[in-house]
Amino acid sequence: MATEEMKPDTKKTEQKQKQSSQIKEDLPPPIKSCSLKVSIHCEGCKKKVKKILTSIEGVYIVYIDVKQHKVTVIGIVSPEILLKKLIKAGKNAVLLPEIPDPVENKPKPVDPKEKNKKKKKGENLQRTDEATSSGTDKPEKTEVGKSDKLESEKNDAGECCTGDGCEVASVKEKKDVLKEKDSVKEKKKKKKMKTKKLGEYNNKQKILLVGEGDFSFSLSLARAFGSATNLTATSLDTLEEIQLKYKNGKANVEELKTRGCTVVHGINVHSMAKDRKLGQRSELYDRIIFNFPHSGFGFGCENQSYYIMLHQAVVRGFMKNAKKIVKDVGGEIHVTHKTAHPFNEWKIETLAEEKGLCLIREIEFNKFCFPGYSNKRGSGRRCDSSFPVGKSSTFMFQKRIV
Ligand SMILES: C[S@@+](CC[C@H](N)C(=O)[O-])C[C@H]1O[C@@H](n2cnc3c(N)ncnc32)[C@H](O)[C@@H]1O
Repeated sequence: MATEEMKPDTKKTEQKQKQSSQIKEDLPPPIKSCSLKVSIHCEGCKKKVKKILTSIEGVYIVYIDVKQHKVTVIGIVSPEILLKKLIKAGKNAVLLPEIPDPVENKPKPVDPKEKNKKKKKGENLQRTDEATSSGTDKPEKTEVGKSDKLESEKNDAGECCTGDGCEVASVKEKKDVLKEKDSVKEKKKKKKMKTKKLGEYNNKQKILLVGEGDFSFSLSLARAFGSATNLTATSLDTLEEIQLKYKNGKANVEELKTRGCTVVHGINVHSMAKDRKLGQRSELYDRIIFNFPHSGFGFGCENQSYYIMLHQAVVRGFMKNAKKIVKDVGGEIHVTHKTAHPFNEWKIETLAEEKGLCLIREIEFNKFCFPGYSNKRGSGRRCDSSFPVGKSSTFMFQKRIV
């Protein structure tokens, strides 16, 4: 028989191998700690979450930090099981990334095979995260995604453990999470997009244009960018007025809309920061542009101080409001204006300083850099006529850092 023919040495090694595999099987799985962010707003929620988690086999310790909505679980159970159980019970939960122990997790040389395996595992987890974060991704792809859908439906129905304000908090929290996810998605999309530029502007900036005449400046940007979803073009005039005043007004507005631009009429620079037509106050812009602000052509002359004061009032109103809706970091307010006398008497820079803005750049304005742009007088009998821009500059301001 084969065993009888075996040498004593071979027998020993076989026995050793058997023993070691036996030991491995007998060893319990390693105890791990994992953290989750869970919708916990009150003691009731805390108790509920603790009960759910401690009932899972392999969970040894559950620590809950209500303030931070953070749950730490120590045990031999997989984090995905914890997540599933919580979501199934109607709780909003996400796994928090593991924070490596700087002492225990000193970088070790990595076996390329292992590296690939880890990468795949990471991708799977990420897919789970994306499925929960994106409205367009199909949540059916992963089990967790499915549960997440169930969970959000439950939350819509106002599910709460105690009912003591938890419901409101949960809806608010859900909205916040969705908002955050949307902005992350938006940022990712922007990063992937090819940058298209025209002059100082590009398709990745959220741009607000005010005091438009026949909307030809906005359209010039829109055509250069292809898609104009990053633009909000506005006029003080109503659409009817635009149609009456400018021969190309209506067509320009229509083209802008087909390119995805948001077009809003009746926006006054004196009140635009709180104008609901522009959306939420939380909507902040990278660039806010007003080309050739002007209070209107009356019977007077541009030299008269009274008219200069009227024009200055428009600029002041614009700056005051623009400051409230421009981004703190990197946001810019642009005014294009003639620089020769008497227009230099407007003292654009001083007006900006009064409003807490500082000039960061002044560049010569060349209207031919904006194909199709036809600057308009905007008022009076010749409202649809262009005026010679002569020597003009775009003044670029930023909020003064206090
Ligand atoms: C000289 S036109 C320039 C029009 C246009 N920006 C252009 O470059 O062709 C001045 C513009 O300022 C606008 N405007 C004047 N007062 C305003 C206000 N309070 N709010 C918004 N726009 C105003 C007028 O409607 C007019 O379209």
